[in-house]
Amino acid sequence: MEKYTVIGGPTSENLAQKISKKLHAKFLKAELKIFPDGESKITVNRISKTKKIIVVQSTNPPVDTNLVHAFSLIYQARRMSSEVFAVIPYMGYAKQDKEFLKGEIITISVIAKLLKAAGATRLIVVDIHSGKELDFFKMPSKNLSAVPLLANYFEKIKLNRPLVVSPDLFWKNKAKEFAKKLNCPSIALNKQRNRKTGKIVIKPSKFPESNFQDIILLDDMISTGGSIVKAVEFFKKKNCGKIYVACTHAVLAGDAEKKLRNIGVNKIVSTNSISGKYSLVDLSEIISQTIQKW
Ligand code: R5P
Repeated sequence: MEKYTVIGGPTSENLAQKISKKLHAKFLKAELKIFPDGESKITVNRISKTKKIIVVQSTNPPVDTNLVHAFSLIYQARRMSSEVFAVIPYMGYAKQDKEFLKGEIITISVIAKLLKAAGATRLIVVDIHSGKELDFFKMPSKNLSAVPLLANYFEKIKLNRPLVVSPDLFWKNKAKEFAKKLNCPSIALNKQRNRKTGKIVIKPSKFPESNFQDIILLDDMISTGGSIVKAVEFFKKKNCGKIYVACTHAVLAGDAEKKLRNIGVNKIVSTNSISGKYSLVDLSEIISQTIQKW
């Protein structure tokens, strides 16, 4: 019996292929057909009994559809193996991990139950929103960090007195870790989001005024781009140099990309947790190493 089979879901085929090469595994591509009524028909041919099956499928937009694909692939894999690794580099719904306003449903806990019910036995995610969501998944899980890889990428760019900035206090330590690699300062802005309207404000914060030129905005994800736009507006008033954005997940919902271009972002660098033109940092090495060591 083969040790590993890797199934590449429709959102993550390239990444899955890379992981499969590193694991010397058999690679299976999921075939997708969408019916006129919107239902998906997902097929995996030649799936055979394997010790461990790895299903790679990020759940970026359309989130609900891509989740159904993940559940279906995991379900099919479980029929052929007692060990099914759900590799979901970008986990949608992760921000819905609390009842922030009365009556809100903690949807990530529903997703966690469905993933287990479908047949996943282990879970690998990358920079999941807070990390606390993993408590909902009642299975062994790993939350990998892409920050060292993003920092490695920026080490190769010629920067002028960079300052690493987390747009919110949440990633303060990640910004510090990133900046340490580049041997430069870091700060975290005090971003507040109105839970009802979604409006973002940045409260004034202290930082090394004269000591920086280029800005590297580091965040777990860019969704609507609203957080980055606010942070850029804040720094534009301070006459900064070039503006770079580094993120793990380039979700880029709606016209996010246009907003970032219009505000003057010079370069966006993300991982291939979501495949696209900005996915310049490859996660396959850390994911395959995690699988091998586990
Ligand atoms: C928020 O806590 C996250 O770390 C991101 O800053 C946020 O999800 C980005 O969303 P948007 O691009 O819509 O502002």
